[in-house]
Amino acid sequence: MRTLRTVPELRAALSGARRAGRSIALVPTMGALHAGHESLVRRAAAEHDVVVVSLFVNPTQFDEGSDLAAYPRDEARDAELAAGAGADLLFAPDAAAVYPPGFSTSVSVGGLSEPLEGAVRGAGHFAGVATVVLKLLNMVGPTAAYFGQKDAQQALLVRRLVRDLDLPVAVEVCSTVREPDGLAMSSRNARLSAGERARAVALPRALAAAEASVAGGEREAASILRRARAAMEPHAVEPEYLALVGPDTLHPLERIDGGALFAVAARVGETRLIDNVMLTPPSSNGRS
Ligand code: PAJ
Repeated sequence: MRTLRTVPELRAALSGARRAGRSIALVPTMGALHAGHESLVRRAAAEHDVVVVSLFVNPTQFDEGSDLAAYPRDEARDAELAAGAGADLLFAPDAAAVYPPGFSTSVSVGGLSEPLEGAVRGAGHFAGVATVVLKLLNMVGPTAAYFGQKDAQQALLVRRLVRDLDLPVAVEVCSTVREPDGLAMSSRNARLSAGERARAVALPRALAAAEASVAGGEREAASILRRARAAMEPHAVEPEYLALVGPDTLHPLERIDGGALFAVAARVGETRLIDNVMLTPPSSNGRS
């Protein structure tokens, strides 16, 4: 696996494959790779000829300077992990290669950027994500790009960006990889103390409670959310939000008769964690 720092280097490295008609997959990451990222790279490698993993801690999507400063960085380890999972190229530009002096363009995905993570992190967060993802897609020119369901709102937003701007790329969304106790893998988990790590199970417990509630026949959002909140209480974790929303609109639902996205965010100590699950009532035929 080769590591590339600039867009001209990247394009030169890909030109042969492109001319030969080989398919190219992109897996955008901010590094601190874990089994969740690895699963994206493995799937990309199984489905495409050439896999590019991008590693760029994008400053414009961080709403807290302290979060950006604390973001774990270990390129040598990330390179090893990416190569082991089947990456052919690691694209690790520095900030000046992505945002040259005078950079002044931004793209934002209306509506989808505003609720949930957008409401907590501010409008700039998803504008930062959408802009850097659009840039990475333009830099690499991939056949397909891989994202995780762990960041459900981000995945939805990228799908919308690609559709709205007619980008010639297939967006693939991969299921969330979890620790044995259900905690979703995240680069931020490394920041949890042992005590916080134990309490972080509150998030997957909330998902499980919502799923059990729906499996038991409950359709009222308020009741499902109450059950989920109650499941977090024993772990002394207060949700920042708990939401049941339309999976394509992110609009709050009062009843879930079709599919719904259940999303949760919470701080455990200083560390902000998010998780989600799709809820599908057993016989979602639209009747109550
Ligand atoms: P990052 O947080 O590094 O995540 C990179 C990709 O890995 C995202 O698509 C994310 O959803 C996915 N991912 C993270 N944890 C996962 C898990 N436990 N299971 C499955 N997939 C998981 O998301 C970003 O970076 C950035 O916003 C980025 C898209 C790179 C733009 O800067």
